[in-house]
Amino acid sequence: MERLSKEEDVIATVGDYKIKVFSADKLADVMRINKTCLPENYPSSFFIYLHQNFPKAFLIAEKDGEVVGYIMCRVEYGLSNMGIKLTRKGHVVSIAVMPGHRRKGIATALLRAAEKALKEYGAKEMMLEVRVSNTPAISLYKKLGYKEVKVLKRYYSDGEDAYLMAKELEEDDDEK
Ligand code: COA
Repeated sequence: MERLSKEEDVIATVGDYKIKVFSADKLADVMRINKTCLPENYPSSFFIYLHQNFPKAFLIAEKDGEVVGYIMCRVEYGLSNMGIKLTRKGHVVSIAVMPGHRRKGIATALLRAAEKALKEYGAKEMMLEVRVSNTPAISLYKKLGYKEVKVLKRYYSDGEDAYLMAKELEEDDDEK
């Protein structure tokens, strides 16, 4: 059955775009955007796994009912990327915005909303991997306070290196 969207589903707005929590009826749209925008693609079961386990941190951007972007994340427990301690880390698994909708602040809104959700899951810091050649994404992350922590040699299947980028989640940074 089609799931009708309600106004209360809207987490944030960016112009005419609405940031909402992903629902399974948008799976095909999100997988299409993932395939269009990124070489790292996943089986549908992986998207559903993240949605079922971290639903508040799997978000979409919509305009007039059309999905134009998404972010999906998970929470991991392990060694901090910011210091020597065990901590809960919010991990951005994938983020993408369709080419015709970029540079309008959509990824910024998705990432900020995901950070807030991950804090609700107990995350104390954020982490992500990004291709060293991906200047747009690196610029986005730096603008939001992420720092390059280390280079992960040959992280991607085509041999490209990744930057591991991380930032601390402050208690009071929701509205920044
Ligand atoms: N060149 C330089 N800086 C860029 C940029 C570009 N092409 N795109 C974004 N930025 C930086 C800018 O600082 C920008 O702020 P500004 O527009 O005020 O200058 C800031 O990021 C925020 O941009 P925003 O509009 O929120 O990002 P977006 O909605 O265009 O989405 C990506 C950014 C990276 C998600 C999008 O380009 C994309 O989907 N790329 C392909 C998928 C991908 O690489 N995902 C990341 C994998 S780690």
